[in-house]
Amino acid sequence: MSKIAVVTGAASGIGQGAARRLTGEGWTVYGIDVAPDRLEATRASLGGNFRPVVCDIASADAISAAFREIGAATAKLDALICCAGVLRVGSLESMSVEDYDLVFNINTRGTWLCARAALPLLRKAASAENPARIVLLSSIAALRPKIMSGAYAASKAAVSQLTRVLAVEWAASNVLVNAIAPGTVDTPMVRPHTQPGANTGYKSSGISPLGRVAQPDDIADVIGFLLSPAANYVTGTTIPVDGGTQAAFVPPG
Ligand SMILES: NC(=O)c1ccc[n+]([C@@H]2O[C@H](COP(=O)([O-])OP(=O)(O)OC[C@H]3O[C@@H](n4cnc5c(N)ncnc54)[C@H](O)[C@@H]3O)[C@@H](O)[C@H]2O)c1
Repeated sequence: MSKIAVVTGAASGIGQGAARRLTGEGWTVYGIDVAPDRLEATRASLGGNFRPVVCDIASADAISAAFREIGAATAKLDALICCAGVLRVGSLESMSVEDYDLVFNINTRGTWLCARAALPLLRKAASAENPARIVLLSSIAALRPKIMSGAYAASKAAVSQLTRVLAVEWAASNVLVNAIAPGTVDTPMVRPHTQPGANTGYKSSGISPLGRVAQPDDIADVIGFLLSPAANYVTGTTIPVDGGTQAAFVPPG
């Protein structure tokens, strides 16, 4: 029987890369996103093992409805990968309350609500020998925040703390919970801010010490590890995948 995952934010960037990786390995993927057109394009590209589910994870009711729909279609879930997220750029002095609330509602509250809604289905797949998995998308910003993205950094630090507590609270259910903290990844989230001539106020971390920014596949590789038997004893941790970006301070000049 094929393994089954829910991927949020599946219509773009890292989520789409994870969905491509998993469907390519024979998984069935329920892809949640707020963008129906991009979800449909993803289904056309990935084929029938990708099942689009339109849902705005800023809404608790919409999340409940989406997981009811998924629960009606599948009896169990082997993995949940939470990639849906937003970035809003601005200083903490000038950022609007609406932008701050949006960042936390999607990145933090929506991620927690998706994990909670998925738990009953994950429990049905989980055993001590084959634990179910949750992978949350934190960010290197949780470990080393930058000016002009303070709300985003705080929302991702919260994701890493949720990861730790969920891992311990759900360990007895054989559900492993980990987070990935990418450095800059070349996706539609950051391209408007990093393309030549962009003047949005966003402060780029620049290329990593490895000499390039990450591609979604770099993150999908580590998601693949966290879903594999090799990670059966890994839970409650945030793994940086940043090419060494925050390993050591690089003094200017
Ligand atoms: N790209 C980076 O440099 C980077 C670095 C660190 C962490 N991350 C994190 O990785 C995750 C994926 O980011 P990405 O770069 O692939 O971004 P992206 O913008 O390419 O993809 C994010 C997806 O989330 C969806 N989404 C946004 N709001 C939603 C909502 N309310 N309900 C449902 N879906 C919604 C979007 O429609 C989009 O398809 C995010 O959590 C992001 O914060 C990204």
